[in-house]
Amino acid sequence: MIEPREQLTLDLAGLFAGGNVLAANIEWIALAPHLDAEIKIDASELTALGTMGETSWTSIGLLAQRVASAVIESLLRKGLLIGDGPHHMGIRERDEAVRAGHWRPLSAVAHYFSRWSDAGSGEDVHVTRHRTLTDLVREHGAPPSHLTERVEKDQRQTLSQPRRSALDTLFRRRATCRNFDTGSLLGEADFSDLLHRVLGCHDVVEVIPGAMGLKKSNPSGGGLHPLEAYLLVRGVEGFASGLYHYHVAEHALEPLTPLDADAAYELANRFVAGQDFFSNAHVLVVLTARFRRTFWKYRNHPKAYRAIVLEAGHVSQNLYLAATELGLGAYVTAAINEIDIEKALGLDPLQESPIVVCGFGPRADRRTMLEFDPLGTVWDENGRRR
Ligand SMILES: Cc1cc2nc3c(=O)[nH]c(=O)nc-3n(C[C@H](O)[C@H](O)[C@H](O)COP(=O)(O)O)c2cc1C
Repeated sequence: MIEPREQLTLDLAGLFAGGNVLAANIEWIALAPHLDAEIKIDASELTALGTMGETSWTSIGLLAQRVASAVIESLLRKGLLIGDGPHHMGIRERDEAVRAGHWRPLSAVAHYFSRWSDAGSGEDVHVTRHRTLTDLVREHGAPPSHLTERVEKDQRQTLSQPRRSALDTLFRRRATCRNFDTGSLLGEADFSDLLHRVLGCHDVVEVIPGAMGLKKSNPSGGGLHPLEAYLLVRGVEGFASGLYHYHVAEHALEPLTPLDADAAYELANRFVAGQDFFSNAHVLVVLTARFRRTFWKYRNHPKAYRAIVLEAGHVSQNLYLAATELGLGAYVTAAINEIDIEKALGLDPLQESPIVVCGFGPRADRRTMLEFDPLGTVWDENGRRR
């Protein structure tokens, strides 16, 4: 994908001449998931790329009849043209891996180039921490309305008073936790129950000969269950802190990397981009997607990536509810350093990459960080846990 990216600069000469204050400079940026970085290209490279297909191999001699050699050389250096010689092997393999994964190009670009590394000190993450909602309203005006109303009030058909069930009580007690009890451990029984309820499988089935499927608590696009759970355990009774993979069929942890307490906290902080109120959780759950499992069925499909992202939302809500039922706090965050997580877990992002991070553990007795609890089901008016 090629993006015409605009860079705005202050144009003092223009200002004094009574013209535009801002000068726009447009650069062409190539976004290619087989390359790790965004690549700047110039107009001649852009034009040249527009004359080449992406499927058939072309001899360099034929290409040189219509594209200047310097442009060919430059595109080869940048990895946007790929040669069949040995020194292009690495990049050729990456390109072949993108193709073999059956990614929809738009989805591949959206996923690849929205991944963060080492975010946490910049404005992106802190935007609502350093600028209050009052600041936002002052700068941008009020947000769009909290309600959508499509007909006049007298045209609405009122429903009967809803009946209450235990599920309603659970929903009313659910609140994103930003106050974990750093002085206690999560009990092993709660840990085990929650993992099995939310992430474990109820059955393993040979759906058709040679194709195995899982039955789990959440629905899954195509029934393929492409999500995996990796745990960063920081405070669980009977488990050393470190990174683990959850084995869904055996309901067991697979130890990956042991970490001392400080290293586990540092890594947690990196995973959730410096949101230290989330790093404090006793367990962080990284939900990754094994894209090929879904794309095996939905090849180059416009909805496949969206289905995977939606599925992570289902798991997250189940995790909130299971934690709430056990009297624990839980959260979900999309502000995560995917690239750092991939490195820590040894994942190749072309095959498997994080979608979201959740966390859970016992709540603190006192609320020090903001939570949204207008019903007062979690905290009393003095900020003490009910
Ligand atoms: C996909 C998603 C991403 C979220 N990311 C963050 C986050 O990065 N930091 C944070 O403090 N809360 C995050 N939240 C939690 C929301 O802030 C929270 O749900 C919202 O304020 C409403 O509060 P409640 O969950 O207690 O009802 C996220 C929620 C969702 C669904």
